[in-house]
Amino acid sequence: MSTRFSFSLAATDGCARTGTISTPRGEIRTPAFMPVGTAATVKAMMPESVAATGADILLGNTYHLMLRPTAERVARLGGLHKFMNWDKPILTDSGGFQVMSLAELRKLTEEGVSFRSHIDGSKHMLTPERSMEIQKLLGSDIVMCFDECPALPADHDRIAQSMRLSMRWAQRSRDAFGDRPGHALFGIQQGGDIEELRGESAEALKGIEFDGYAIGGLAVGEGQEIMFQVLDYAPGMLPEDKPRYLMGVGKPDDIVGAVKRGVDMMDCVLPSRSGRTGQAWTRRGQVNIKNARHADDPRPLDEHCTCPACRSYSRAYLHHVYRAGEMISGMLLTWHNLHYFQELMAGMRAAIAEQRFDAWEAEFHATRALGDI
Ligand code: GUN
Ligand code: ZN
Repeated sequence: MSTRFSFSLAATDGCARTGTISTPRGEIRTPAFMPVGTAATVKAMMPESVAATGADILLGNTYHLMLRPTAERVARLGGLHKFMNWDKPILTDSGGFQVMSLAELRKLTEEGVSFRSHIDGSKHMLTPERSMEIQKLLGSDIVMCFDECPALPADHDRIAQSMRLSMRWAQRSRDAFGDRPGHALFGIQQGGDIEELRGESAEALKGIEFDGYAIGGLAVGEGQEIMFQVLDYAPGMLPEDKPRYLMGVGKPDDIVGAVKRGVDMMDCVLPSRSGRTGQAWTRRGQVNIKNARHADDPRPLDEHCTCPACRSYSRAYLHHVYRAGEMISGMLLTWHNLHYFQELMAGMRAAIAEQRFDAWEAEFHATRALGDI
């Protein structure tokens, strides 16, 4: 197996791309969906089950792990892969974004962000240098630059100042990351919904040089229409020969629209989080398993799905265990949702490889328009 990090494009269809990211811990088929394992677990799933859904890579969070159990403890215990029993690649987010949404008493300066833990109120500081150190202690395969961004809508000056600070932090992240063969550092483009600022950000990142480039600052309140407008130009501003990662997206139709516009990687808590609140995602749209109409329904969630929830259980059972507050409810629905998201990615990869993405997309929307059975 390769000891280096590399990306090779196998085919394109319009702006959509399919390829492979190679890492010492295995290959990542793109477009890739990364399940979120915030606290060293994809909630309600055993790691081998996450792999069985088709996931090649997981996302972990600097912010959560630095607070509990701490990066130093994870390092002493052999690193995040060993700690959580996942030997495939892990990408870690850098913490800035989570601090701004979760922490208390945040203070943003040129140096970084000081804040109090949302868990116990303890005081902490994150800087580009500390974020690189934590992600190294965790043993992350793909490290994200330390960045910051406003929620949208925001005015031009706020977006510009925040983006320029993130670009200075990107240079400091690059300098602190150093030379780590087999590990990748990704830059994060900011600039909100302003094309000129997205361009300025892309130029700054390309000047620094990264192993991959993320599109950040989206899915922060702007809605799908504006997000797609940005994705009509943002991916094209980034190097063609490096992976492009859209952070924190999304619903199935967001993912399809992003891939169509040239995105290679995505992550979202949606399939796992909604699995724990009784929401299922299927080819025919969203299903609320709490609904009384499922109480006597002997049919599976989706007769075409090969996941354990659909192969061995009825809607009536899934409805019952949700209502009864049984743990297997979150386990089965999370498994189904992750399986569905991975099938979606596999379908797009095959369609792009065979130059039939438009037909695949038309079928995707037509099936959803039918609504649930
Ligand atoms: N997750 C979702 N959006 C973002 C972003 O803009 N930056 C980071 N670091 N993480 C994110
Ligand atoms: Zn299923």
